[in-house]
Amino acid sequence: MTDQSEEPEVELEARLAEQETFEPPESFVEQANVTDEGIYEEFEEAWPECWEAAADLLEWDEPYENVLEDEDAPFYRWFTGGKLNASYNCLDRHVENGAKNRAAIQWEGELGETRTYTYGELLNEVEAFAAGLRELGVEEDDVVTMYMPMIPELPIAMLACARIGAPHSVVFAGFSAEALATRMNASDSEYLITCDGYYRRGDALNHKEKSDKGLRQVDHDVTTVVVDRLGDELKHFLGKHAHDYDELVAEHEGASVEPVSRDAEDMLFLMYTSGTTGQPKGVKHTTAGYLAYTAWTGQAVLDIKPEDTYWCSADIGWITGHSYIVYGPLALGTTTLMYEGTPDYPEKDRFWELVEKYRVDTFYTAPTAIRAFMKWGAEYPEAHDLSSLRLLGTVGEPINPRAWKWYYKHIGGEECPIVDTWWQTETGGHMITTLPGIGEMKPGSAGPGLPGLDVRVVDGTGEEVDAGHAGYLTVNNPWPGMLRTLYQNDERFVSEYWQEYSDPDADEWVYFPEDGAKIDEDGYITVLGRVDDVINVSGHRLGTMELESAIVATAGVAEAAVVGGDHELKGEAVYAYVILEDGQEPTDAMRERIVDNVVEGIGPIAKPEDVIFTPELPKTRSGKIMRRLLEDIASGNELGNTSTLRNPDVVEDIQQQVQDD
Ligand code: WT7
Repeated sequence: MTDQSEEPEVELEARLAEQETFEPPESFVEQANVTDEGIYEEFEEAWPECWEAAADLLEWDEPYENVLEDEDAPFYRWFTGGKLNASYNCLDRHVENGAKNRAAIQWEGELGETRTYTYGELLNEVEAFAAGLRELGVEEDDVVTMYMPMIPELPIAMLACARIGAPHSVVFAGFSAEALATRMNASDSEYLITCDGYYRRGDALNHKEKSDKGLRQVDHDVTTVVVDRLGDELKHFLGKHAHDYDELVAEHEGASVEPVSRDAEDMLFLMYTSGTTGQPKGVKHTTAGYLAYTAWTGQAVLDIKPEDTYWCSADIGWITGHSYIVYGPLALGTTTLMYEGTPDYPEKDRFWELVEKYRVDTFYTAPTAIRAFMKWGAEYPEAHDLSSLRLLGTVGEPINPRAWKWYYKHIGGEECPIVDTWWQTETGGHMITTLPGIGEMKPGSAGPGLPGLDVRVVDGTGEEVDAGHAGYLTVNNPWPGMLRTLYQNDERFVSEYWQEYSDPDADEWVYFPEDGAKIDEDGYITVLGRVDDVINVSGHRLGTMELESAIVATAGVAEAAVVGGDHELKGEAVYAYVILEDGQEPTDAMRERIVDNVVEGIGPIAKPEDVIFTPELPKTRSGKIMRRLLEDIASGNELGNTSTLRNPDVVEDIQQQVQDD
C-alpha cells in the first residue's frame, strides 16, 4: 500500500521506520486519568479486591458483600449481594449531580441532520419509553430484541429496558431477516423494536421489510415497536401487533419510572456472536460486573472525562458499541457522539469533518477503517482541524505497523497516544492494551494485559512460550466484565471456553479466547488472529459453518468449504470452495445464486469475495478438509508440502482457478 500524502516528510518517515517504540506524549500524560505505573503491581497484590476500584465508579442501591464468588467456577459471580440499576447509573445520577444540561448523546444523521440529547432529555425519553414498554406488557427478565441502525432510539431503547430490568438483545441492522429470526427464536424474545429504514450512502434503505420478513420466521407471537426514521421518504404501515415509537413516547411523556433495583448478577443483555458451529452463541452479560468493567476501562484505557466529546465509530449492533458508545461512556457521564452513516459519504472526509465540528477528544475505530483512510490519502484529514484530538483507539483485528503509524501521524498529529485494544464480545471490555498515560507503544502489538488480568501466551499443553514464539492466548484468572454463560446453554459455555486448558480436578480454570498470539520480552502481546473456524471480516466475526450452511442451501450445491483469505481493506475476506451436484454446471448464474444466498442468509458483510468451483476438496488421509491449504490458496501464499493429501492433484486445479478469477 502506498502513502498518498503529498509532502514526503522524510525525517519523520525515517524516524518511524527505525523507531519501534513510542512514548506517550508529555501533554497527554500530564492530564491522563491513570499515570502511576504501580497500578499493575497494586492490582496483582490486591486481587480480586482490586476490582473494588471498578465497582466504586458506580452507585449502588445496596452494597455488595463479596467482590468475587468462585465456588461454581467457571460460573463466576461478581459483586454478589449488591443491587443497582444500569440506567440509573448512566442517567439519573448525572442529572442529580448537576449534569442535567450536559449533552449525553450528540447524533448526526448521514444527510447532516443533528440531534442533541442532554442527560436530562435522555432520562425523560428513556422513562417515557420504559413506561410505554411496560404498557405493552414487558416485564422484568423478558428479553427485548432490537433490530435498529445507528439512531438515538437504539440506546434509548437499551436504557429503557435496563431501567425496567428487561434484558436486551440487539441484532446488527446489517444482518439478514433469517439472522434476526434465529436470534429471536433462540432467546424466546416476544418483543421487537425496529424502524422503517435508514440512510446508507444517501439512499433510503427499507429496513422494515427485512424485519417483517424475519418476523414471519419467528415461531411465537411478537409485539413490535417501529421507529419512524424516514418520515415521508419511506411510507410504512403498522400491522396488528405493531406500535409507533413516537406515539408511545408521546402518550407517556413526563412519566416517571422508578429504576428497578437489579441484583448484581442479573442479566443486563444478551449478544449473539458467531462460533465454530452453525448456531450463534448468546453471550450473557450481567448488570454490575459488566457496567463496572466498561466504566473502569472507559476511564483507564479511553481516558474518558465528563467534559469530553468522545467518539467511537463502531455500530451499536456489535459489542464495541454496547460497551464503548453506550454503557461505558454514559456511566462516566461524558458526551458520546453517534454517527449514522459511512465514512465516505458524501465525501471521504466525513469523519474528519465530524471530528472538527464536534471538537472530538477521543476517537476509537477499527483497523479496516484505518486501511481505507490510508488508501484514500492524507489530503482528507489534512483538510480539517483535528487538533481537538487527544487519544486514538483501535479494535477488532490486528493492526499492522504501517497502518498504526499512518494513524499516529495523520490523524493524531504525533501528539495522541494510540490504544490498540484486544478484547471480545465475551470479555465485555478491554483486556490487552497499553494504558495511554503509562505504557510505551509498539506499533502492531496491543500491549500487556490490563492490571488485574493474568493473560498468557501458551503452547498446546498450557506452558508459557518463550518471548518471540507464537502460541495461544489464555486468560488465567476471571474478571468482572466476563460473560457468565451462553444463554440457556451452560454446557456449551464450558466446552467452548473452559475445556482446552483448564484442570477441573484441581479446580483450575483457564479461559481460552481462541486467538493465536506472540509475546515479547516486555510482556507485550501481538495478537495473530483466530485459531478456530471464525473469519474476521472488517473486524466482524463470521462463523464458517454458518456460511457453509447458507451455501449448501443453494439448489445444486453438494458441499462447501469456506475460509478466510487476506484482503487489503477487509483484513480477511470470505472465499468459498464449492462442489456441485452431478449434472450441475459451474456457471456465473450459479455463482450469483450462491452469493445471494449468503447475503440473504447472513447479511451483506458475509458476501463471498470469490466462489471457486471444484470437483473435490483437498483432504487429509483421514478425510479432514485441509482448511489451512485453502486459506493459503485464497491468500496467494506459497503452499507447503501437499504430498500427504489424499488427493494432491486437486490443489493445482483449484490454484489455477483462483488465479483466473
Ligand atoms: C475477536 C473478537 C472486541 C470488539 C470487536 C470484535 C479480534 C479484537 C483485536 C485487536 C487483534 C483483535 C480477535 C478476537 N480482535 N480486537 N486489538 N487486535 N485482534 O469483537 O466480534 O467478539 O471478535 O476479534 O480475534 O478474538 P468480536
